[in-house]
Amino acid sequence: MTWSPSSWREKLYAQAPPYESPDELRVAEQRLAALPPLVTSWEIERLRGLLAEAQAGRRFVLMGGDCAETIAECSSAAIAAKLKILLQMSMVLVHGLQRPIVRVGRFAGQYAKPRSRVTECRDGVELPSYFGDLVNRIEFDPEARRPNPSHLLTGYQHAALTLNFIRALVEGGFADLHHPRQWDLSFVRNAALRPQQREEYERMSQNLADGLKLMEALGEARIEELSRVDFYTSHEGLNLYYEAALTRRVPRREGYYDLTTHLPWIGDRTRQLDGAHAEFFRGIQNPVGIKVGPGATPGEVAELAERIDPKRQPGRLMLITRLGAQGVGEHLPGLIEALGDRPVLWVCDPMHGNTRKTGGGVKTRSFGDILTELERTIDIHEERGTWLGGVHFELTGEDVTECVGGSGGPTEAELGRNYASACDPRLNYQQSLELAFVLARRLRR
Ligand code: PEP
Ligand code: CO
Repeated sequence: MTWSPSSWREKLYAQAPPYESPDELRVAEQRLAALPPLVTSWEIERLRGLLAEAQAGRRFVLMGGDCAETIAECSSAAIAAKLKILLQMSMVLVHGLQRPIVRVGRFAGQYAKPRSRVTECRDGVELPSYFGDLVNRIEFDPEARRPNPSHLLTGYQHAALTLNFIRALVEGGFADLHHPRQWDLSFVRNAALRPQQREEYERMSQNLADGLKLMEALGEARIEELSRVDFYTSHEGLNLYYEAALTRRVPRREGYYDLTTHLPWIGDRTRQLDGAHAEFFRGIQNPVGIKVGPGATPGEVAELAERIDPKRQPGRLMLITRLGAQGVGEHLPGLIEALGDRPVLWVCDPMHGNTRKTGGGVKTRSFGDILTELERTIDIHEERGTWLGGVHFELTGEDVTECVGGSGGPTEAELGRNYASACDPRLNYQQSLELAFVLARRLRR
């Protein structure tokens, strides 16, 4: 079958948003199709080049952000806090890996969520589930939960606002955020750390700060230029009406680009070989991620890789494994073997295979499980001679209490203090930074 930006419409669309009015949907799609793109083809091509280097072991990718971005949280403070934590984690990782880090945010469009149930029942009332702000709203009332095609436009606008602010910070006012004086490493002084750990982290952060100061003093470069902090955007390419409306040809380049984001990924629930998502994403020029959960067979994943990347183009394909601390040992070796010598960028998402409910019914993840999956993943890649080229976290720059553990993190009983996620539990600022330290230390070996 020949590909076109609408050939996916002939395929089974898993997780299709249950819009009621095709007319309303068409109006929103047409309006979107007339609006300017959010990202450009040259940014996408630059990222693909960086991902190709990461595949080859010369770079490392840090992906992170909210499980579900929301319109309500599209604020200066929340965006700056996300950039700050990603930046600080990346600086810790540079130090440990001695390789440049590619920063990719789950932001400026991470507004669409797959759900296990189409409807949600509360006290005998049944309404559509919350599918992310691109589709409906989280409040449990009939109008908020109605899948509303005009939210496609609202989502686009807020993605644009987010991106505009990120671009402005990157261009100018961001330097102070990564100035050594601004390093808030208070968790390093946290009493719960073992003395040896604390000493090591303090040494690492001091080295980092010294290195930055030295380079600045030598006049090598201003700090902001040194790490000329590029941030790339990514989101789950779940809502194909949205993706397709912004998928276009550009002057002097071959093919079509999905201009909603630099790096869209296909979720674990929508990666069916003959499904609409595989069909859509096989035809675009962007690099594409595929989430791979424990339900995927190695053969299936190899076929999907062939479908999405038949030309074996460097930087094109990212496999994001999310197998769980328990499942990774069983599933990852087979996947690595099935992919053979195909160029893929292996990324570990240690979040989605480790979600559980507390006795009180609260969705959480343990810092310990997250770390265990990461460490086992690293071990397995080391044993097989493949390179783990990146990590993918759900995190926020704020002091939320959603995941348990870490040296200063909340216990299950403390989760209620500031549980703010619209979907899955995220690592908070301290947990994220601590994870970066542990990872840097482990990957240095
Ligand atoms: C997600 O990244 O929020 C998500 C839904 O992941 P997965 O497709 O891996 O379950
Ligand atoms: Co999630």
